[in-house]
Amino acid sequence: MNHSRLASIALLTAALTGDSLRAAAPDEQPIFAGVINKIFESKCLSCHTAEKPKGGLVMTTLESITKGGESGKAGIVPGNAAESWVYGVMALPIDHDDHKPPSNKPQHTEKELALLKWWIDAGANAAAPIKDAGIPADLMPTAMELAVLKVEAPAAAARPLITPKDLDQATKDSIAAITGALGVTILQLSQSDTGLMFTAVNVADKFDDAALAQLAPLATHLSDVNLGRTKVTDAGLATLAAATNLQRLRLENTAVTDAGLDQLKGLEKLEYLNLFNTAVTDAGLEKLSSLKGLRRVYAWETKATKEGAEKLHAANPNVIINLGWDAEIGRPAITPVAAPAPAPASEPAPTTPAAEPAATAAADPEASFFTARIAPVLERTCYSCHGAEKKKGGFQAHTLELLVKGGKDSGAGIVPGKPDESSIIKRLALPKDNDESMPPEDKPQPTEKEVALLKWWITAGADAALKVKDAQVPAELN
Ligand code: HEC
Ligand code: HEC
Repeated sequence: MNHSRLASIALLTAALTGDSLRAAAPDEQPIFAGVINKIFESKCLSCHTAEKPKGGLVMTTLESITKGGESGKAGIVPGNAAESWVYGVMALPIDHDDHKPPSNKPQHTEKELALLKWWIDAGANAAAPIKDAGIPADLMPTAMELAVLKVEAPAAAARPLITPKDLDQATKDSIAAITGALGVTILQLSQSDTGLMFTAVNVADKFDDAALAQLAPLATHLSDVNLGRTKVTDAGLATLAAATNLQRLRLENTAVTDAGLDQLKGLEKLEYLNLFNTAVTDAGLEKLSSLKGLRRVYAWETKATKEGAEKLHAANPNVIINLGWDAEIGRPAITPVAAPAPAPASEPAPTTPAAEPAATAAADPEASFFTARIAPVLERTCYSCHGAEKKKGGFQAHTLELLVKGGKDSGAGIVPGKPDESSIIKRLALPKDNDESMPPEDKPQPTEKEVALLKWWITAGADAALKVKDAQVPAELN
């Protein structure tokens, strides 16, 4: 690259960063900090910091990247990209389960991947200045693009994905100002819909009532608002009183109390309200009874009681109130199988045409209950990520022993007799839009009846020796 071009890039960088006194040429930066790490910072860091080490992998220093994550595979093996798992996951086809970044996140380019491969194969030298590092000519433009890039911290990186085309200019301007100032995400739900989705998830620990107040000019456009884990309080919810088109609101893990719910009383379109782990009580639920559009309320880990939930359900029979894994008020009861008198175990299995493998196996009264009734459910819904070949979260579910043991973070998979302490049930019971809900939202789900059977079996002791013929399964679960 010729010198005057480099100098102008240097000036440009300096101008962009406001760093006009130290306008060193960009190609004098060390190759790791100046080039390679920019790929990681922009594509990986949002999930791999010390606070959020997904897969046990922290990508904040070259040392921790080299070390790798919970699989024990080295992140970087200097001189050998093929053995380096950090490179390996990026090189996998995008539809592979282990490909990183996850397919719904911004991806690296082929040139960036080639640059990373070259750098590792060349020995993963961190300090060499870019200009002396021996970067192949065809990768140099990519390297220089990265060298002049200033990567924002993950929290500030959120940007509106769509500039809503149907919104008036004033609203568009407000969106631009708010997203820029707060690092939050605002997007239009669809091209045809002017409803806006707002989430403060990237900046939750800094997002407070004052920040929420800045949304006031957009209030009537909001249809989906996620304030989970933010610092928003009752007072701040006044901003949402004007959000008359709001359909979904997440307030879980906030300081919101009954008093704040007064602000929601006029939100006739509100369908979904998540109050998980707030101080809301029955008095708060009662305030929601005027909301005729309401369909689902999550009030698990609050002070609300079954009586309070039933009262709300009586006022609005369309609303389902979730109070925990085994307490859902208002959900239509599991339709009992039109069972004649319980069949004696020796009778041949009814020949239902749609008999699933599980049902067939269940017909053998001597079979292990786990193998016949439980394993098939897990096989269909969990093994693809927690089986013999995959061990997501350090958890495998394909043997009873491993199932009981559980994964690396959430404790025992099964605590015999105690479904509510068993991590598999805790995960299954989480609201589907919770990040930790299992199986992930877009994957095959167990039916309600299957989950109920799983809970029953754990309550009954999750006994490996239990046989189909001895299991006193409640009729409605058979
Ligand atoms: C949106 C979140 C997210 C982003 C962005 C992301 N990862 Fe991950 N990563 C995960 C999760 C979750 C896991 C653990 C579960 C799994 O393996 O899928 C993981 C696991 C890994 C592992 C396996 C660690 C081990 O030893 O088990 C590697 C390696 C990895 N990521 C590398 C990367 C790289 C490199 C990038 C950027 C190019 C990246 N990740 C971006 C979420 C993310
Ligand atoms: C498409 C992949 C996928 C499927 C299918 C899936 N999981 Fe997971 N699961 C993950 C990932 C990734 C993690 C690690 C990240 C996390 O903890 O959320 C995880 C973590 C877990 C954990 C926490 C382990 C620990 O202690 O850290 C449990 C428990 C769990 N899953 C249960 C289940 C159950 C039960 C099913 C089936 C009903 C299931 N999962 C289906 C991907 C999956």
